[in-house]
Amino acid sequence: MKNPHVAYRTTLAAGTHRAFTITAIRQENERTRTLTLNQPLDCSAGQFVMVWLPGVGEKPFSIAGNDPLTLTIVDVGPISHALHGLQTGERIWLRGPLGQGYQLKGQQVLLAAGGYGAAPLYFLAQQAYQSGIGLSVCLGARSAADILLAPAFEALGARVYISTDDGSLGRQGLITGLLPDAITAQHPDCLYACGPVKMLQALEILAAANGIPAQFSWEAHMRCGIGLCGSCELILSGEAPASVTHTAHHRPGWLTCLDGPVSFYEP
Ligand SMILES: Cc1cc2nc3c(=O)[nH]c(=O)nc-3n(C[C@H](O)[C@H](O)[C@H](O)COP(=O)(O)OP(=O)(O)OC[C@H]3O[C@@H](n4cnc5c(N)ncnc54)[C@H](O)[C@@H]3O)c2cc1C
Ligand code: FES
Repeated sequence: MKNPHVAYRTTLAAGTHRAFTITAIRQENERTRTLTLNQPLDCSAGQFVMVWLPGVGEKPFSIAGNDPLTLTIVDVGPISHALHGLQTGERIWLRGPLGQGYQLKGQQVLLAAGGYGAAPLYFLAQQAYQSGIGLSVCLGARSAADILLAPAFEALGARVYISTDDGSLGRQGLITGLLPDAITAQHPDCLYACGPVKMLQALEILAAANGIPAQFSWEAHMRCGIGLCGSCELILSGEAPASVTHTAHHRPGWLTCLDGPVSFYEP
């Protein structure tokens, strides 16, 4: 079912590979690098590109900034590792922008990021900052070494809350433990999140319990990236409360690449 909140704009150009050259590489934390590319991309925060390395493979990556285009990549497996091995001056091939991005609403927003989820939310935070929208950010990771972009969010004036599983930085425990305090302190008009599916499912219940609109970017296994192969249908496990199951991404056939990756929840 098409998402009623978004105008579909996957174009033929979005299905064609284009070569980009790496102009700068920044180490963000132990396992994460940001690649700056030599061209801008007309896109919105929350959209993604399919990154292809000939002979290695192709995977989706969120857009972390669009002018110039930047990608923030965690080194976890074959393709992300190969991307970490590239030097400035080398080329990668991209299709995109793909998917439906976030839509900014209200005067105060709360962002919640697990792992690489900080990348698309940093792009959104920059847009919120430029529009004079107040920001607070919850960052969750396994340990201090995996926390991503905290100083960059602070430089945009955001109040940053941090949790780590091992307690090496911020509050010990899951990111969901940060949300009640952040909601009470900031009274957000909308909650934006990107992270593992289980984290988003927990945040969805929190948003519903607090009556806050929410926009979440979901992760799924992608192949074509343009709604043809069906491999990215979002399949959520476990019982969700009736308060959240009316949203489109809970229905069978919701394709993360075409209908998402961002889904929209209204209380
Ligand atoms: C819409 C979308 C946007 C994405 N945006 C980004 C992004 O901006 N930055 C980014 O780094 N990745 C992003 N990803 C994930 C990315 O597409 C790849 O899945 C990831 O880079 C791993 O691919 P791989 O081939 O290197 O390793 P794989 O062989 O796919 O994975 C190796 C192992 O690492 C685990 N793993 C996969 N991803 C992660 C992770 N993020 N953290 C910890 N363990 C993991 C896998 O379960 C597996 O066990 C995005 C995915 C989607 C669907
Ligand atoms: S990745 Fe092929 S339909 Fe989404």
